[in-house]
Amino acid sequence: MPSMNTLDAIRLRREITAFTAEPIPAVIRDQLEEALHLGPTGNHALSRRFILVEQRGLLDRLSRTTPWMEWLRQAALGVVILAEPGVSKYWLQDATIAGAFLWLAATDLGLGMAWGAVYHSEDAAESER
Ligand SMILES: Cc1cc2nc3c(=O)[nH]c(=O)nc-3n(C[C@H](O)[C@H](O)[C@H](O)COP(=O)(O)O)c2cc1C
Repeated sequence: MPSMNTLDAIRLRREITAFTAEPIPAVIRDQLEEALHLGPTGNHALSRRFILVEQRGLLDRLSRTTPWMEWLRQAALGVVILAEPGVSKYWLQDATIAGAFLWLAATDLGLGMAWGAVYHSEDAAESER
């Protein structure tokens, strides 16, 4: 699939919550990882970290950390974005921009992607809509 321009990716991006069983090739996964790391950060402080998860059992367990991430049980890849408030006061912005870059890159690469907000999941009230 030819690469699209940025504005097309912005226009086409949608949350997709149903996935095929097709695995994601390593070359595609590497490009997703690149997009994550290329996001800007406040003060150039690297307050976010990324964990790419492909193990079925782990994806299934992660899907249960909030009531709103059922779709992760079908996904071939999960990307956990960790934000570290101790590293930068811009931790939330930094992590969010990384997620947005990932979403546009996924759209460009022809992948469906959804977003799950795991907000203090130990507190049920935090996970309410
Ligand atoms: C910060 C944030 C948190 C979100 N959390 C969830 C979530 O926990 N579960 C989910 O299925 N979708 C989640 N979404 C996806 C939104 O529901 C979705 O983007 C919105 O309905 C608009 O649809 P669209 O992305 O197709 O334009 C989240 C999106 C953002 C930006």
